[in-house]
Amino acid sequence: PRTPLVDGHGRLIQDVRVSVTDRCNFRCQYCMPAEGLPWLERSSVLTFEEIERLVTLLVAMGVHDVRLTGGEPLVRRDFPALAARLARIPGLQDLSVTTNGYLLARDADALVAAGVHRFNVSIDSLQRDRFFALTRRDALPQVLEGIEKLAAHPQAHPIKINAVAMRGFTEEEALPFARFAREYPYEVRFIEFMPLDADRNWTPDSVLSGAEIRAAVHAVYPLEEVPREPSATARVYRFADGQGQLGFIDPVSDPFCGDCNRIRLTADGKLRTCLFSHNETDLRTPLRDGSSDAEVEAIIRAAVWKKELKHRVNEPGFVQPLRSMSAIGG
Ligand code: GTP
Ligand code: 5AD
Ligand code: SF4
Repeated sequence: PRTPLVDGHGRLIQDVRVSVTDRCNFRCQYCMPAEGLPWLERSSVLTFEEIERLVTLLVAMGVHDVRLTGGEPLVRRDFPALAARLARIPGLQDLSVTTNGYLLARDADALVAAGVHRFNVSIDSLQRDRFFALTRRDALPQVLEGIEKLAAHPQAHPIKINAVAMRGFTEEEALPFARFAREYPYEVRFIEFMPLDADRNWTPDSVLSGAEIRAAVHAVYPLEEVPREPSATARVYRFADGQGQLGFIDPVSDPFCGDCNRIRLTADGKLRTCLFSHNETDLRTPLRDGSSDAEVEAIIRAAVWKKELKHRVNEPGFVQPLRSMSAIGG
């Protein structure tokens, strides 16, 4: 085995998030403008072969978890075929997908058959009109139908539901989501709104903290914390009566950078060592100019070595990265 992939702060990198497209069929307010964004040209997006080559190289360097994201990954043509190719890479332990769920009713069976067994699906409200207001698509019934399709596969459990928590919106959603998580075998996770929205409307006050939601839920349905892996994004709590659990991803109020084991690959082949990075490392050019695997590996190692110590969202002078969430990959 080769030398593990480590950064200059002693963190071992074992997880890569691969964005397969910057396009999306939703327009969530915390991510994209209503009119969409200027999409990448097709020729600048990595091909399946290029993605497979990079993931194979990363897996050889000890990365064992791969999460496919977008934009919305299911809008990439033949996405289940890409998943099937990646699932066959020896040494890859965990292949997962984060999706808005709109096309799951169509693709759930193919993705499970391809070897994807972990799915995180975004739902920000369980009320159709509020879901529409936030995502700008009247798609809640379609998303729920997709989740049902997925839930029919025992291998796809536990399914996680992601809800971005925004002040002035999510307060009303906390208890309905708690009841949903008690009724269905899904882990609902509240994610603190991060300054990665294309409209740049984020302010510190617009974050509804995990602690606030926890307190509101705990007052009605008592919660107890469940032990977790240090590198996990979410803190998990179970309902004290044993019926279901909730997760909290608190990157703003309680950053987990110290335990971060992740890097990101954008759809156009740039390596990002943090969600909030201001510089990226171009891997597409070496992939396309005939560089050897050893040369590409050296570029990756050098970039990872410089991985940021932590994000600076809570510090004065914080500057939002140029790319917004959909172009980074979540
Ligand atoms: P699991 O492995 O299932 O827990 O997935 P995950 O939580 O890593 O992935 P998911 O795509 O569901 O992401 C949930 C939220 O966590 C999204 O808002 C991501 O942007 C955020 N997130 C994931 N990794 C990081 C990270 O390294 N830093 C920060 N700040 N946020 C992250
Ligand atoms: N802050 C927090 N989470 C976000 N997501 C998208 N934009 C933001 C943001 N600004 C979430 C999506 C999806 C995951 C990949 O990231 O809802 O669940
Ligand atoms: Fe699309 Fe996800 Fe951004 Fe919503 S958060 S617009 S579903 S990429």
